[in-house]
Formats: sequence, C-alpha cells, structure tokens
Amino acid sequence: MPPPPPGSSTCWSVRDATVRWHGVNELVLEVLRTFHAELAGEEIAMRLELARQLPPVAGHNGQFHEVIINLVDTGIAALRAIKGERRELTVRTEDQKGRSVIFELEDTGPGIDPNRSDRIFDAFTSTKPDGIGLGLAICQRIVERHNGQISVSPAHPHGCIFRVVLPASSRSSSVLTVAKPRRASTPIEEQKGY
Ligand SMILES: Nc1ncnc2c1ncn2[C@@H]1O[C@H](COP(=O)(O)OP(=O)(O)O)[C@@H](O)[C@H]1O
Ligand SMILES: [Mg+2]
Repeated sequence: MPPPPPGSSTCWSVRDATVRWHGVNELVLEVLRTFHAELAGEEIAMRLELARQLPPVAGHNGQFHEVIINLVDTGIAALRAIKGERRELTVRTEDQKGRSVIFELEDTGPGIDPNRSDRIFDAFTSTKPDGIGLGLAICQRIVERHNGQISVSPAHPHGCIFRVVLPASSRSSSVLTVAKPRRASTPIEEQKGY
C-alpha cells in the first residue's frame, strides 16, 4: 500500500475501503442534504441539535453514511405512517467526555412494537409489506465493526430514539481500532461485501 499523501487523514485500510477520521456533525449534514428533495412538500419537520464540537471518529465514510441514511430512512417511513399528528425527526449529536460521540435520531412515529423490540436489529425482521428487514441489521453490523453500540428506546409521548455510540479517536493516535472484517459467512456479509 502506498503511503498516504502529505496532509491526508488516511490512516488504515481494509480491502479497498479506507478508514479515515470524520466529524459526525459533517457526516450528518452530508446525509441530510441528500434527503432534501425527497422531503420537499412533505409535512415532516427536521430538527438539528448538533454539539458545537465533537472529537473525530475513525471509520469508513460510506459505511457511516449508510448507517445515517438507514436510520433517517426508517424514521421517515415511521412518520409517513401517522396522519394528523406532529411529524418530526430530531437528529442529535453529543460529546461524551471526549471518549465517545453519540448520534441520536428521534422520531414522533408510532414507535416500535414492544413484542418486537428485542429482535429489531435481526436480519430479515420487517413489518412492512415490501420490507426486507436488512436496514437495521446492516446498521448494527457497521456500528459494531467500528467498536460502537446501537440501541433503540421509546420516545415520549410516542416514537422511538435510535442511539449510536462511537468511540472517539484522537487524530494523534497512531493505532486505530476498527475491527477487521471476518470471512463472509452470512447472506448480509456476502451481499454487502463485509
Ligand atoms: N423508526 C421506527 N419506528 C418504528 N418502527 C421501526 C422504526 N425503524 C424500524 N422499525 C421497525 O423495524 C423493522 C426493521 O427495519 P429495517 O431493518 O430497516 O427493515 P425494513 O425497512 O426493510 O422493514 C421495520 O419493519 C419496522 O417494523
Ligand atoms: Mg429500513
């Protein structure tokens, strides 16, 4: 592998996907921009509660985008299912004492069926007639490969809150701790090339 160019933040590489340092706020804004056209004309309010400053996180740009896209997508789908009530998506980021970065997505949708909440991240679990049930499973796989955690809890008075916690990674650290991919063994890994 050639050395990274001067000034580049490239620091580690898995197959052809390059691990870099990212600001979660910037990732969020990049992804939300791509939803502008889709949400035009819909009565869905987007609230941003972004931390003023966040330590960087290390990982794959495309995979982080995929996590945020899947969560926003699933939040929008939940909001489209309710009529005549406040339809709001709130994106929050928070610095947890410089040690980790929290990304939360809260929606005012119907919330997660309590009978399903412990299986919501399982692959092929879907309540949608045309759902495949892979979005959240992929999110969990990506977050855990980046040594993070993803969870969901009920919002009040209704809706749900997805929470992603990623370890902060100092730009001065010479060793990054992104988990290496295992050999493909499940359909998800094969499809996504993890
Ligand atoms: N924001 C949400 N509010 C309520 N239920 C949700 C939300 N996000 C996901 N779910 C539930 O989790 C299931 C799995 O979601 P996902 O893995 O994205 O697969 P799919 O979108 O194909 O159904 C959904 O079918 C839905 O029942
Ligand atoms: Mg989905």
